[in-house]
Amino acid sequence: MTQLQVNTSRPYRIAVENGSLPRLGAFAQEVFRPGARAMLVGDSNVLPLYGEAARRSLEEAGFSCARFSFPAGEASKQLSTVQALYGALAEHAFTRSDFLVALGGGVTGDLTGFAAATYLRGVGFLQVPTSLLAQIDSSVGGKTGVDLPQGKNLVGAFHQPRFVLIDPQVLSTLPPRFFADGMGEAVKYGCIRDRALFEEIASHPVREDPERLRRMIYRCVDCKREIVERDEYDTGERMLLNFGHTLGHALEKLHGFSGLTHGGAVGVGMVWISRAGERAGLTEPGTAARIAAALERCGLPTGDSAPLPQVLEATRLDKKSRDGVLNLVLLRRIGEAFVHPVPRSEVEAFLEGCNHA
Ligand SMILES: NC(=O)c1ccc[n+]([C@@H]2O[C@H](COP(=O)([O-])OP(=O)(O)OC[C@H]3O[C@@H](n4cnc5c(N)ncnc54)[C@H](O)[C@@H]3O)[C@@H](O)[C@H]2O)c1
Repeated sequence: MTQLQVNTSRPYRIAVENGSLPRLGAFAQEVFRPGARAMLVGDSNVLPLYGEAARRSLEEAGFSCARFSFPAGEASKQLSTVQALYGALAEHAFTRSDFLVALGGGVTGDLTGFAAATYLRGVGFLQVPTSLLAQIDSSVGGKTGVDLPQGKNLVGAFHQPRFVLIDPQVLSTLPPRFFADGMGEAVKYGCIRDRALFEEIASHPVREDPERLRRMIYRCVDCKREIVERDEYDTGERMLLNFGHTLGHALEKLHGFSGLTHGGAVGVGMVWISRAGERAGLTEPGTAARIAAALERCGLPTGDSAPLPQVLEATRLDKKSRDGVLNLVLLRRIGEAFVHPVPRSEVEAFLEGCNHA
């Protein structure tokens, strides 16, 4: 199986096919009218690698193609980049019949999607994710947005792409650090939804085997599809995707968003929260150790020396915190997640000692 359909308010398809990037134009023909114009958006690392193949394919399919490039990195995920992109769209007189193409990692997808959600009150866009994290997570589900100096992802919109084209072959150029980062999210999908996927990741290296890697991406995307379909606007079940993220975000913040990567921080968060779940009798014994072993196999950390009181302090602004209650995502066992609300006043006691095996 190589294609999936996401049944959101506007359904769309996802193709997960090795070597599919040169067929981008043919996929675009399925969702955009002939003669429409495309704005190809990418960062300073990805456009030089894959921009030309994408442009050629779009033009061969009859779409004229403009380009917008920005400096690679999270620092570009801000309103000034989106404003420059609006300017490029307006200069080329883009209309609502034209479309944007996000060719890159999660930063590109998030900011391009946000520009598409807001330019002329909404134009279509395609996701062509090129990092592992973007392929298994951020390109699917329609969350778009940018950061503010006060925090990450504070401005955004729900805007589903018209098509997601995933070519796992482009991951051959992804630096190992970013590959490991994406594997942290893959372990997460196994933990919350798919025990067999977890076992596969825990027992086999995937990067060197193109078909195994493709299948892993497909299964992660399928997990996300299922959750997004049930909760498109993130009012309930989608919270499960945040397994490991409450503590992970706090650790990222304490490390000043450098040193510990997002995937690394989420990995530590998954181990710690599972240890707390085990101690509370809510999580099957041995779960935290199994997650730690899987993360280690992927080259990710399994612990951190940050003091727990500081980590707890850093969770105070967590989006999963409502009315004095922190909604923690726990596992019953590998493959089965649930939300466990804990009153703020009891969070410290619940998590006590979770940072030590
Ligand atoms: N919208 C969502 O649902 C969602 C979900 C999770 C994360 N995110 C967001 O995703 C972002 C992180 O995504 P990311 O890790 O992909 O970051 P990124 O877009 O910065 O990409 C990581 C790095 O890899 C490079 N790169 C990407 N593909 C490459 C390739 N094939 N070859 C060589 N280099 C390549 C990029 O240039 C960049 O330097 C964060 O901003 C996060 O908030 C969004």
